[in-house]
Amino acid sequence: MDKFIIDGGEKLYGKVEIQSAKNTVLPLLAASVLTDEQVKIRGVPTIADVENMLRILTELGCKIQRKKEYSVIDSSNAVSHEIPPRLTRELRSSVFMLGSVLTRFRRAKISYPGGCDIGLRPIDLHLSGLKRLGVEITEEGGYIDCKADKLVGTEILLDFPSVGATENIILAAVKAEGFTVIRNAAKEPEIVDLQNFLNAMGAKVRGAGGGTVLIEGVKRLHGVDYTPIGDRIEAGTYLIAAASCGGEIETDGVPPENIAALLHKLRENGCKIHTKNDKIVLQSNGRLKAVDLVETMPFPGFPTDMQAQYSTLCCTAQGTTLVVENLFETRYKYAGELKRMGADITVRGRTAVIRGVERLHGAQVTAGDLRGGAALVLAALKAEGQSTVIDLSHIDRGYADFEYKLKKLGATIRRVHI
Ligand code: UD1
Repeated sequence: MDKFIIDGGEKLYGKVEIQSAKNTVLPLLAASVLTDEQVKIRGVPTIADVENMLRILTELGCKIQRKKEYSVIDSSNAVSHEIPPRLTRELRSSVFMLGSVLTRFRRAKISYPGGCDIGLRPIDLHLSGLKRLGVEITEEGGYIDCKADKLVGTEILLDFPSVGATENIILAAVKAEGFTVIRNAAKEPEIVDLQNFLNAMGAKVRGAGGGTVLIEGVKRLHGVDYTPIGDRIEAGTYLIAAASCGGEIETDGVPPENIAALLHKLRENGCKIHTKNDKIVLQSNGRLKAVDLVETMPFPGFPTDMQAQYSTLCCTAQGTTLVVENLFETRYKYAGELKRMGADITVRGRTAVIRGVERLHGAQVTAGDLRGGAALVLAALKAEGQSTVIDLSHIDRGYADFEYKLKKLGATIRRVHI
């Protein structure tokens, strides 16, 4: 089990290259079984979630070529419709495989998925959407078994704009007979990227990003060479780090409109932000004023995946911030760890009241989930003295080269293998 040892107090300066978005790459990898031809995806980050998804594809019979610049998936010899339970437990996004594996084999079997322990995370919307497309689903002994003699286009209204359910339904509908309409679809940039990827393979999907997605089923999809969008959550994490610690950094690879809600808050906090194309430059003197309220929402609202990192910044801002987490019910587990560093946080259900303190101090803390873990690293960078962040397995699921990128910005951080 690895740990980070961090000496806090440095300002951060420099440029960060942003990796391809984890939350795009995972559904694109799932989508790669929709064709017999080769799928080339560029800039696939070296993170545990991606490696697990590649392992799932390998176990289904796909051949993978993994290079630094790109990965090639060849599913022409894929034989299995059973997603291995061992890997499903590691990776919640394996549930996206249902839609694409069903399209490919007319059958898909998966055990209930795992991932970050940040709440109940049901998959009822995924399953009811698939049923509407003609899929017969039986659930037994922790397994979900899906069968469809044929998939037929239909109209689906999601009760909530779930990202994963929208993606899964698109993947199941892309070669279905006729038209499928998804209303109240998620609008996240990752959905738009999935649409662009599928259309580059010959699919007919439109409307992504606007709440209603229209899919006209096609007979076949072909190979593709694709560069996914940059990771807005990764970019946001570095921007929050620099906002909190002070300094000046530039992120390259994420359009500002993809993290507009965060940039808006950071400006209110007192940061200076300039943007040009996919570049964001942030300057901060490290003495921020608190905003009154931050509430997580589906896109284009404030992302739940940035709530923990942003809450860390609130810990030393002048004033009190009310944080409301509307997406996942138990996403404040990091708060107890932040208190060990001197933060003043009261959590009640979905709400946290964060009263800014003068300074945080170094402590030994444990990373319990991906974004909460990243938040603890940011808190340690800001704190006086030395901190140890234990158990990097969650952080490694989503951030490639985290410590190298932070070191390049001037942070004092090292990884120790225990
Ligand atoms: C995706 C992201 C995750 C992000 C989340 C919200 C990936 C790999 N993960 O997760 O990083 O935090 O979007 O932006 O892209 N829900 C149901 N029933 C369902 C599905 C979801 O009730 O069948 C609820 C969830 O409990 C949650 C809300 O809908 O409260 C949003 O979840 P969803 O958008 O589906 O998140 P994920 O796709 O799991």
